[in-house]
Amino acid sequence: MKNGKVAVLSGDGIGPEVMEQAMAVLKAAEGRFGFQLEYTRADVGGIAIDNHGKALPDSTVEICRASDAILFGSVGGPKWESLPPAEQPERAALLPLRKIFGLYANLRPAKCYQQLIHASPVKNEIIPHGFDILVVRELTGGLYFGQPKQTVKTETGERAVDTMVYETGEIERVAHVAFRAAQKRSKKVAVVDKANVLECGQLWRRTCKAIAPQYPDVAVEFIYVDNAAMQVVRNPAHYDVMLCENTFGDIISDEVAAVAGSLGMLPSASLAEGTFGLYEPSGGTAPDIAGKGIANPIAQILSAALMLRFSFAMDEAAVAIEQAVEKVIASGLRTGDIFSAGTTKVGTAEMGAAIAAAV
Ligand code: IPM
Ligand code: MN
Repeated sequence: MKNGKVAVLSGDGIGPEVMEQAMAVLKAAEGRFGFQLEYTRADVGGIAIDNHGKALPDSTVEICRASDAILFGSVGGPKWESLPPAEQPERAALLPLRKIFGLYANLRPAKCYQQLIHASPVKNEIIPHGFDILVVRELTGGLYFGQPKQTVKTETGERAVDTMVYETGEIERVAHVAFRAAQKRSKKVAVVDKANVLECGQLWRRTCKAIAPQYPDVAVEFIYVDNAAMQVVRNPAHYDVMLCENTFGDIISDEVAAVAGSLGMLPSASLAEGTFGLYEPSGGTAPDIAGKGIANPIAQILSAALMLRFSFAMDEAAVAIEQAVEKVIASGLRTGDIFSAGTTKVGTAEMGAAIAAAV
């Protein structure tokens, strides 16, 4: 698709400054590959609370509806932390967006580049070549959305209920995403569940076992989530695709991101049926460094690359951006979060400009 529409939701904290660099890199890609996307900006998160009274204004939803993809920055910050949980930017913006647009498949790559293994908290001799894990997280089911979901008063206090519920079809569709992704990678899927305790876990296991024969080139293993949490620290390089239900994927994806070393490098894609998707960095708003021009823009830039790949079928342009990032890393440029002795420390804008130039 050469003339698609993108809703640009930069949000709060470092969102706007890293988004600016992603836009510059997209512009470079447009120039090189001869396409032109139309970008419409809209408020989301804390800034939307300030300007419109809620984290996800209807006007923003309409702009997203009129678009082919959402390029998302990050939301939240100290200013809005005292709001009731349900009104806080993160929850009040992201969860409805996921539900409204049916973003059921969340792809969270946690790649530890060989040149950056020093940034990983794991002993470097365990990961001499870095590693490359893709967490595929189910994003619109499970405990996050299951009903009943409520808190009631009791004689002795309160009683809170969340419901983990999955249907076969919800598991199948995200499992297909995981298996197809594995076919393009190292051809391994680890299904992460709690089948020893949870009914849902047993259904996940049965459903994935039934699908696996459709992908004879992919090796499948099943692992309980507690064990998975341990193994990704002991031997992250063992894993390729890790398929998780919503809550387990929330936790495991943060864990592998931390093991990979820099949150500032990790993009994500949340995909709907068809080609619509929301693309955002895995890290947060980093309020401590916001506005200083030192944030790492790479996660936002790689999120834009994922957008070109999944929503606009421009794999070539996506690969060009990914290779530009690798080239700039190889050339020794580093933002503060990935800096080490012997490399060159740069700010957000310089990093973005170098990547745009490499595209
Ligand atoms: C994430 C976040 C969200 C989630 C929160 C902010 C609702 O932690 O995207 O992983 O739990 O899914
Ligand atoms: Mn999370």
